[in-house]
Amino acid sequence: MINSCENIEEKHYDSVWNSIIQSNIDSDNLGCHFSSVNPRMEIVKIVNKYNFNKDINILDVGCGLGRNSIWLAQEGYKVTAIDLSSIAINYLKRQINREIQIKEKLLVQKISFLDFHSSHKYQFVIDDGCFHHIHPIFRNEYISKLNCIIDKNSYYCLICFNDKHCLFEKYQNRGIDNIHYAENKHISIFYSKDEILNIYSSFLNLVHYDEIHGLKGEMLHLFLFKNENI
Ligand SMILES: C[S@@+](CC[C@H](N)C(=O)[O-])C[C@H]1O[C@@H](n2cnc3c(N)ncnc32)[C@H](O)[C@@H]1O
Repeated sequence: MINSCENIEEKHYDSVWNSIIQSNIDSDNLGCHFSSVNPRMEIVKIVNKYNFNKDINILDVGCGLGRNSIWLAQEGYKVTAIDLSSIAINYLKRQINREIQIKEKLLVQKISFLDFHSSHKYQFVIDDGCFHHIHPIFRNEYISKLNCIIDKNSYYCLICFNDKHCLFEKYQNRGIDNIHYAENKHISIFYSKDEILNIYSSFLNLVHYDEIHGLKGEMLHLFLFKNENI
């Protein structure tokens, strides 16, 4: 069994993510999993349903290769896309250079969300697959960062691993404190719905919940929270 702290070589383990993302790019695995070129349909549905004003500021936390950010920018939204992986960010920058019309809409930054600073607040924050890779010892930092950057009456969409995910059983005996180590020192946490609600409901209200499937059929949670605190 692996101790919950010994596996964190560095706070943000960006080298781990660089190798995962590079191997996806090398294996031309771009049609599946998070490297898909298409946005997640559930995010498209939320944006269409809530019909957000095009002037809002959107933050895509752990944007990866940018499938959601690119779509949002193509739709005319102002998006800041951040990721700690330089390989993901450089890949996304090359994509943006090919699409001149989204250049002005999409700001890309290589940074961990835990270190992110902004002079303004965001009206829509997306985390599609990042939070469940944040080690619990950094969870409070993540939550206070979110609390700082999310505007009043604004939305936070979280898509994360569900404890009904097919990998949950495979990894559940390999960690402690509900931390499930996959290969490569890559941390994955499979949350129950109640665990997520416990983490977020002190400062955000749940406005929509769904169980959804990833591109490989894996079970995920989709939470849409609203910051209604004054
Ligand atoms: C499973 S991928 C999801 C990528 C993208 N959101 C998507 O849906 O295509 C998780 C991403 O989160 C990034 N990441 C992990 N920890 C992060 C952190 N602390 N700050 C910013 N990005 C992080 C990884 O580099 C990786 O690109």
